[in-house]
Amino acid sequence: MSFRATVLTLYPEMFPGHLGQSLAGRALERGDAVIEAVNIRDYAHDRHRSVDDTPAGGGAGMVLRPDVLAEAIDAVSPDGDERPRLLMSPRGRPLTQARVRDLAAGPGAVIVCGRFEGVDQRVIEARRLEEVSIGDYVLSGGEPAALTLLDAVIRVLPGVMGNAQSGAHESFETGLLEHPHYTRPQVFEGREIPPVLVSGNHAAIEAWRQAQSLELTRQRRPDLLDRPEAAGGPQPAK
Ligand code: ADE
Repeated sequence: MSFRATVLTLYPEMFPGHLGQSLAGRALERGDAVIEAVNIRDYAHDRHRSVDDTPAGGGAGMVLRPDVLAEAIDAVSPDGDERPRLLMSPRGRPLTQARVRDLAAGPGAVIVCGRFEGVDQRVIEARRLEEVSIGDYVLSGGEPAALTLLDAVIRVLPGVMGNAQSGAHESFETGLLEHPHYTRPQVFEGREIPPVLVSGNHAAIEAWRQAQSLELTRQRRPDLLDRPEAAGGPQPAK
């Protein structure tokens, strides 16, 4: 069974974008994942094909019309479609590696890319759109956010990463940021590879990597240390 993403957007030509290359590109070629981009404008009602209007109550910008978007969603995701419906938005819940894994374990997703000032609240409620943010900054639209989410999902689909182990020690999978990496040459511009890594002592290497991960996380992302994953598993409630 492949992961099927239907992306509703005003810029379908942005897809698959960079996902046509490299690891994701090969997954798309094999059919492990399918990305279908659908133009919201195809569901406009008037001869100008308008999809937005001025905000009720006044203010700057334009708002995506609920009727046009609802029609587009209903066309691509009829009753019985089990896929979650996501709306890429800086107002959404932050995307996490856990949610990425969760999505990858399911049948796919319907992803709405917002543009303009936003999307009429009534269609968010009526079509149960789950708002998802990829970070605390504002993009010009949801498309790059959807590409980012799909990149993260596709790489964890079964069989996509060459070595099944290769994701296990990454940042966020362990709840901590990943330790630093080194390779040859032994000395680069006067800087040596930390001696423990060339000692051949695997227990010492593992302990060093753990300590580095913990220190890096403490310095850069102390918020992660409060999450249960950081302690290596679920924690009893405080
Ligand atoms: N659209 C605009 N900014 C966004 C963000 N940070 N995350 C998801 N979608 C967005």
